[in-house]
Amino acid sequence: TKTNYILAIESSCDETSASVIANGKVLNNIIATQSVHEKYGGVVPELASRAHQENIVPVVQEALDSASISKSELSAIAFTRGPGLMGALLVGVSFAKAMAQALDIPLIEVNHMQAHVLAHFIEDPKPTFPFLCLTVSGGHTQLVKVNSALDMQVIGETRDDAVGEAFDKTAKLLGLPYPGGPLIDKYAKEGNPKAFDFPVTRMPNLDFSFSGIKTAVLYFLKEQLQGNPDFIQENLQDLCASIQYTLIEMLRIKLVQAAKETGIRQIAIAGGVSANSGLRKTLELEAKKRNWELFIPKFEYCTDNAAMIAMAAHFKYLEGDFSSLEVTPLAKMKI
Ligand code: KG4
Ligand code: ZN
Repeated sequence: TKTNYILAIESSCDETSASVIANGKVLNNIIATQSVHEKYGGVVPELASRAHQENIVPVVQEALDSASISKSELSAIAFTRGPGLMGALLVGVSFAKAMAQALDIPLIEVNHMQAHVLAHFIEDPKPTFPFLCLTVSGGHTQLVKVNSALDMQVIGETRDDAVGEAFDKTAKLLGLPYPGGPLIDKYAKEGNPKAFDFPVTRMPNLDFSFSGIKTAVLYFLKEQLQGNPDFIQENLQDLCASIQYTLIEMLRIKLVQAAKETGIRQIAIAGGVSANSGLRKTLELEAKKRNWELFIPKFEYCTDNAAMIAMAAHFKYLEGDFSSLEVTPLAKMKI
C-alpha cells in the first residue's frame, strides 16, 4: 500500500516545529526553541514572529531530510490554525498555504488544543475512547472529554490565567528567571508544602481560576519582606513547595470531580505543566486510590511540538477533512 507522508508545522507561540508522519507513525519532531524571550521574562509576540520567519525553512528542511523524503513525495501539509499569537500563527499558515499550492496537495488545519490531546496517540500506551484529558500549559488550562479523535468537548477551563502562567508569575515574584515553572518544581522538592498557607480558589462547576494566587503571594511576600529582607532566600524551598502544592490541589480537585461526574476512569494529562514532578506524583497516587488508568506522554510531546499537529492531521486526512487555500489563522479557536 502507498505511504502517505504528511508534513506538519507548529508556530503558535515560541517554538517553531516541523514533523513528518507516515501512515500515522511519527517519523520525527524537529523543534527550534526561541531563547530571545528569556531576558524579557515572557514571550514577546513581535520577536516570536521574526524568529519563526528565520527558523521555518531550516526546520522544515530538517524534518524532510530526517524522514529521507523530498517535498514531491508529500501527500498533504498540515499547520496550526489557532489558538495562539496572531503574528506567530501567520508565519506557519502562510508557509503551509504556499507549499500546498506549489505542490498541489491538500492543506489540513489543526486546532492546537486538539493536538495537545492527540499527542497521546503518538506512542504506546494509548488511551481508548472516551477519556478525560487535563491540558495544562503556559497558555491553557482545560479539562476535555475526548469522545473520539475529532470529537472533543471542553467541560472545564480557566476563567483567567493558565496554570503555567501562575507558576511563571509567582516564580517571578520570588526573583526566579523565566520560565519559572521548572525552577519552582526543582526547589519544591526540598521544601515543606504545608509551610505556608495560600488559598485554594474554588470556582463553580469544572472551571478554574489561577489569578488569585499571584496576588496572595505578592501581598504575603510584601509583608514578610518588611520584617526580614532575606525572607525569600531563607524560605525559597518552602515557598516553592507551598505554591506548587496549592496549584496542584486546584487541578486535582477538578480532575477528581470531572472523573466522578462523567464516570470516566481513563485520565490523561498534556501540556508543558504535565512535566511537573509534584503533579505527576499526586496524580499517580490519585490513580491508585481511584483505580484510574493514567496517561502521561513523553515530555517532548507535552510541550509545544509539531508531532502532535502531525498526529491530529493524520486523523483529519483519514476523514478527508481538508481546508481551502483561503484559510486564515485564529488567535482564539474553540476545540
Ligand atoms: O506547553 P508549553 O511548553 O507551552 C505553552 O504554553 O503552550 O508550556 C510551558 C509552560 C510554562 O508556563 C512552564 O513554566 C511550564 O509549562 N512548565 C512547568 C514545568 N515545566 C514546564 N511548570 C511546572 N513544573 C514544571 N516542571
Ligand atoms: Zn500549547
